[in-house]
Amino acid sequence: MSKGQHPTITTSNVPPASLDVELLVIPIFDLSDLKNASELSGLDEASGGMIGKACATGEFRMERRNSFMTTLHGDEWAAQRVALVGMPCREEALTTHLRDAAAIGARLARKCRAVRMGFVCRGKDLMPDSGQAVAEGIGFGSFEDVRFKSEITEGVSPLNCEIVLNSSAPSEVDKAVKRGDVIGRCTNDARELANEPANLLTPRIFAERAVELASDSRIEVEVLGETEIQALNMGLLLGVSRGSQEPPRLLVLRYEPADAPANPVLGLVGKGVTFDSGGISIKPASGMERMKSDMSGGAAVVGAMCAIGTIGGPRRVIGIVPMTENMPSANATKPGDILTGADGTTVEVINTDAEGRLILGDALWYARKCGATHLVDVATLTGACLIALGHVASGLFGRPTGWITAVEKSAARAGEAVWQLPLYSEYRDQLKSEIADLKNTGGRPAGACTAAVFLESFTGGVPWAHLDIAGTAWLEESREEAAAGTTGVMVRTLVDLALTSGSW
Ligand code: BES
Ligand code: MN
Ligand code: ZN
Repeated sequence: MSKGQHPTITTSNVPPASLDVELLVIPIFDLSDLKNASELSGLDEASGGMIGKACATGEFRMERRNSFMTTLHGDEWAAQRVALVGMPCREEALTTHLRDAAAIGARLARKCRAVRMGFVCRGKDLMPDSGQAVAEGIGFGSFEDVRFKSEITEGVSPLNCEIVLNSSAPSEVDKAVKRGDVIGRCTNDARELANEPANLLTPRIFAERAVELASDSRIEVEVLGETEIQALNMGLLLGVSRGSQEPPRLLVLRYEPADAPANPVLGLVGKGVTFDSGGISIKPASGMERMKSDMSGGAAVVGAMCAIGTIGGPRRVIGIVPMTENMPSANATKPGDILTGADGTTVEVINTDAEGRLILGDALWYARKCGATHLVDVATLTGACLIALGHVASGLFGRPTGWITAVEKSAARAGEAVWQLPLYSEYRDQLKSEIADLKNTGGRPAGACTAAVFLESFTGGVPWAHLDIAGTAWLEESREEAAAGTTGVMVRTLVDLALTSGSW
């Protein structure tokens, strides 16, 4: 998707029947709701009875992500087609389901080549949050990465979507919808970055892209090159980049609103490995192509910072993304080599494929050096986390409890599943080296936890959360609400965390 393809989103308060669009998307909470709701009267008739039939046969049912699309006729309903989306949901999950329904609707609109779409925001009035979620969903569902297709079979022109609100506070809701629109765009920017193949998105280009994206917002960008990284003694980042022809970069993004207090400063750190071959401990060929997206955490930080800088939050935020390739070569770091981090920690590299924790060690240190008082890192860090939680939830680690709770609350509002995993001190024993301060791997048991414990030693005791997105950053096959490929996971959570006041 190129920039021009992002949907245009507007809001109104008109009766749904009067919306003159090619596709009208309506969330449905149960079948009696469909029959009895006054704003839906005459809909079944307009469908020539097809809706009633679909309910009777079970073609349309109250299952998450189930939808039914049919054409409409007559004068009572102005839309050409309607898509009903099943919403079998409890109240606390309403905004999450509405976000999904909006994304499903946008994907259906693409499918039937609709340019004008309407979305009826229904259910208990949870505005303005639902308005934001629906706008996020419309942006998310519109995304289809056609940049590298010479023939666009499903590209269509950008969508115009009118959200019909049911709200008593329209100006608040309008603001929330604009916020959701920005977050949707920035999520898709992160997805584009992470989808881009590694021959095109090298560390240098990744940094340039971040500079371009941030130029539209109130974010200051600094890109440190190899000499500056050397001057900072970042031996862990340099040790990973040694094997590559491409020089590393350290991206520093700063959001510093003039009236913000000096404290707190949120530090967002994202793994930016533009290709992870494993290095000398090379990975098997099968699936290695996916390692072009080993910078998804870094892309999420870039996307989130751009959203924060566009929306304008009350607090200072800094984003740090160490960018490098992990490649084998005659010059590459070898198993057994000892690297020294910028904080002085010596690390015996047992496996060069455990590179994420190395570069994040230096980046976490640098985030603190830049003044971060609260840290969150996001990384496609371990296959072990993917095995533990599958593609359903991201692993969450950290301390103290209050900070973890704040991250959990943001993730819940953002509709991004996270599950906390432990940081038992016993895991530290698995990282003891005979010869250096730490080993970079702790063997197979609790692989996601030992990786997190490794990171912990670079956090200097400040509140810190680690999100392992190895299982959630990539979708193998497209789904009702999402295109296959990168998901942009954690952009929404990070933005929520930065913008929510009072929770930390
Ligand atoms: N980037 C990988 C983790 C990964 C695996 C992300 C699968 C997404 C999907 C990471 O750098 C890695 O290679 N981790 C190793 C660590 C091991 C050598 C201790 C792993 O998980 O196998
Ligand atoms: Mn690796
Ligand atoms: Zn990696």
